[in-house]
Amino acid sequence: MAFQLSPEQTREADEIIARYPTKRAACLPLLWLCQRQTGWTNDEVIAFVAEKLELSTAAVKGVVTFYTMFHEKKVAPNVVWVCRTLSCELRGAKAVQEHMEKRFGCSAGGTSTDGKFTLLKAECLAACGQAPMIQVNDDYYEDLTIEKLDAVLDQIAAKTPEGK
Ligand code: FES
Repeated sequence: MAFQLSPEQTREADEIIARYPTKRAACLPLLWLCQRQTGWTNDEVIAFVAEKLELSTAAVKGVVTFYTMFHEKKVAPNVVWVCRTLSCELRGAKAVQEHMEKRFGCSAGGTSTDGKFTLLKAECLAACGQAPMIQVNDDYYEDLTIEKLDAVLDQIAAKTPEGK
């Protein structure tokens, strides 16, 4: 079935489009709005945005593939980005990543066995002074130790229903 926004998000989409001098300029925020509804940016979302903004699907796909914030594959409700750039690397990011891979039962790029977390590697997330750090959905967790990391993940897991 073709992708559609909810009535409330349709109003939000119209407001977004009206905010810009050209429809093309609304591509990023409209994709983001759609991804908030679906959890990922699949071909149906790309076709929807292309039609809404009078663009080719190739142009929209080009935006999706350029920005790492758009997920081209289905992801878990919690997307964990582990920063692997220099400051974090020097302060234990490798151990943070390995601990999560062991805990989740998957490598970076995969989804945990309980379906609650997708683990991804990130380039610098601009919190170098608080390295090592991770981003989970929209929130940063900084100055991590393995104990602090487990406490954060326990808290998030407890609030997330079991996935598939
Ligand atoms: S190096 Fe990790 S936030 Fe900058």
